[in-house]
Amino acid sequence: MHLLIPAAGMGRRMGSDRNKLLLLVRSQPIISWTLKAAEGASLISWIGIIASPTDWQDLQTIIQKQKLTKPVELIEGGSTRQESVYNGLLALPSAAEQVLIHDGARCLATPDLFDACALSIRHHSGLIAAIPVKDTIKVVDENGIIQTTPDRRRLYAAQTPQGFDVKLLKQCHAEGVRQGWEVTDDAALFEKCGYSVAIVQGEETNLKVTTPQDLAIAEFILKERE
Ligand code: CTP
Ligand code: MG
Repeated sequence: MHLLIPAAGMGRRMGSDRNKLLLLVRSQPIISWTLKAAEGASLISWIGIIASPTDWQDLQTIIQKQKLTKPVELIEGGSTRQESVYNGLLALPSAAEQVLIHDGARCLATPDLFDACALSIRHHSGLIAAIPVKDTIKVVDENGIIQTTPDRRRLYAAQTPQGFDVKLLKQCHAEGVRQGWEVTDDAALFEKCGYSVAIVQGEETNLKVTTPQDLAIAEFILKERE
């Protein structure tokens, strides 16, 4: 199974002056933890890291230090996550019929979760890891007045990995460019094109490191795992 790791963000909400994926958690760059999990997943055979060329040298150093046994390629990122993933899809080896996409910033996902998604994609053309939401969610209007309260039993928080049939996902990205759709995950493009997306049980600890608080939580969880 081929894996694409979007890693070309700026980390604006982290408030750092460089890509947040190069920040250290338990003395290792965030992206190293993500790569370690991917390396540990038995069904992943190829890794493409989608990143800005300004970070390529740092990433090469990290990859070499980690002595990964799986082939790793660097792919140029775009100005949005959506663009970055599309670049990644276009750079996949032609043998790749299905792909997993996993945010570099989700450095706490376990190898088991990658493998569960890689197994499940054999039965679905689109899937995402997700977990039931714990909070009651409110839909509000532009004045902040609540419109509705959706039934919580049907609400899931989307995570990555997300897995897709490569041909279909490429087609959805191309349609997204034509229609000017702006989405925050690949499943949204798949849904908009009318394809179904299944859910694989995600992990409570699989948070996306976004703010400085998340860094502290990731630090804590990784320490607990030692
Ligand atoms: N990403 C990407 N290309 C972009 C923007 C984001 O590959 N142009 C990647 C990030 O590196 C991250 C993942 O998509 O691994 C999820 O994005 P997010 O958590 O939003 O990271 P950033 O965009 O870096 O953070 P922010 O939105 O706070 O600037
Ligand atoms: Mg972002």
